[in-house]
Amino acid sequence: LFPDGQRVSITAKWTTLEVIPGKSTDMLVYEIDNEYNPVIFLRKGQTFSADFVNNSGEDSIIHWHGFRAPWKSDGHPYYAVKDGETYSYPDFTIIDRSGTYFYHPHPHGRTGYQVYYGLAGMIIIEDEDEDNLKQALDLEYGVIDIPLIIQDKTFDSSGQLVYNPMGHMGFWGDTILVNLTPNPYMDVERKIYRFRILNGSNARPYRLALLRGNQRMRFWVIGVEGGLLDTPKEVNEILVAPGERIDILVDFRDASVNDVIKLYNFPHNLIGMGMIGMRMGMGMERGMGMGNGMNMDMGMADNSEFEVMEFRVTKDSAYDKSIPQRLSEVTPINTDGAQVQRITLGMRRMVFTINGETWEDGYANPQDINNPKVLFEQNNGDVVIIEYVNNTGMYHPMHIHGFQFQVLERSLGPLRATDLGWKDTVIVAPMETVRIAVDMSHPYNEHQIYLLHCHILEHHDEGMMVNYRVN
Ligand code: C2O
Ligand code: CU
Ligand code: CU
Repeated sequence: LFPDGQRVSITAKWTTLEVIPGKSTDMLVYEIDNEYNPVIFLRKGQTFSADFVNNSGEDSIIHWHGFRAPWKSDGHPYYAVKDGETYSYPDFTIIDRSGTYFYHPHPHGRTGYQVYYGLAGMIIIEDEDEDNLKQALDLEYGVIDIPLIIQDKTFDSSGQLVYNPMGHMGFWGDTILVNLTPNPYMDVERKIYRFRILNGSNARPYRLALLRGNQRMRFWVIGVEGGLLDTPKEVNEILVAPGERIDILVDFRDASVNDVIKLYNFPHNLIGMGMIGMRMGMGMERGMGMGNGMNMDMGMADNSEFEVMEFRVTKDSAYDKSIPQRLSEVTPINTDGAQVQRITLGMRRMVFTINGETWEDGYANPQDINNPKVLFEQNNGDVVIIEYVNNTGMYHPMHIHGFQFQVLERSLGPLRATDLGWKDTVIVAPMETVRIAVDMSHPYNEHQIYLLHCHILEHHDEGMMVNYRVN
């Protein structure tokens, strides 16, 4: 889709889609070559060259979530363009590993709205590790290598989207969509499938398991946001927060023909006691629609269990591949002598803060966008340990632009399979402390201004976002 060196134009615009059968929904889409929200394939080492044409009706800019880009090409909100205008991204080279990435808007204050109305898509970067995996498993994109973009939305009776965030909780919808499809299912054969799970929801995390009857099926985490792990990790559930991408293998030879395997969401523990009053009050009035076979526990939008999608095993197959032993090389960041940046997540006057500040505290509208306010500053090549200290009753999936990182430890338990490898978003549970290592080496000649923010889009829009600077 993105030929090396050739400029590609991406237009954000309104259109009408049939999401709910028989009804039409006004949605925002990214259009590339007459396709809506297409998966963008890139090869490591290629030049990335794009124009963003904004016909969304309001300010916008696209951010390429997860891979390294110079900040003027990264979709920083300072570079948002007005409706009817075009932003030409300065060319840059794709230097990150194969993996599943994410493109979405990033204008100040309107990201949640624009993503919700449809601006969200997947980017797949490929390299030699990916070539090897493809070969080992006979992977074919769209056949047994499947993107699953999971989002929750709420529709009114005419089929239009309703965007009604619940205060601090952000937006929690009553209808689960996979690749913008309600009641999703897929016919599968008894083979190994790869699913690239992208949580494109505004606020809702998913704790996902595969159920065969009441039995959990095993599956393997093979990659996270920054690409493949060193080896597959066998699990029976994963936690996926907004912004995270988890790459898994499922061996449907563990099931029989005619089995229906459910991808199921279980209650999690990511909203603490302090938030309960709020969520009860707010959840109830929304009168949880029971559409889609969702089994909402009255008002407990955050702690309900429901089916996300079904895999119907329809056919046997002569497939004879097995789960690979090795996937890639993940070299641990050497943190000897690393500097520590402690980032406290708090709340002030009903808004979540980062070290007591929000985007409105001097970050928005700087006089000189080359020299805006930053929370901290580092030099090119510094290794930094960021210590997120969550003093709130709600989880925050903390994301940084500019670099991928490695999770070192979490205070409330061991690292999960989804914490391993190269990450760009990490779940910080209520009252938890999480330490990550970031090697802030970049290949660019000038200083870079990157964002650090919560990926609950309503938190981010309300200002749970700051700049940091790498010289
Ligand atoms: Cu996907 Cu700054 O975000
Ligand atoms: Cu990002
Ligand atoms: Cu948050």
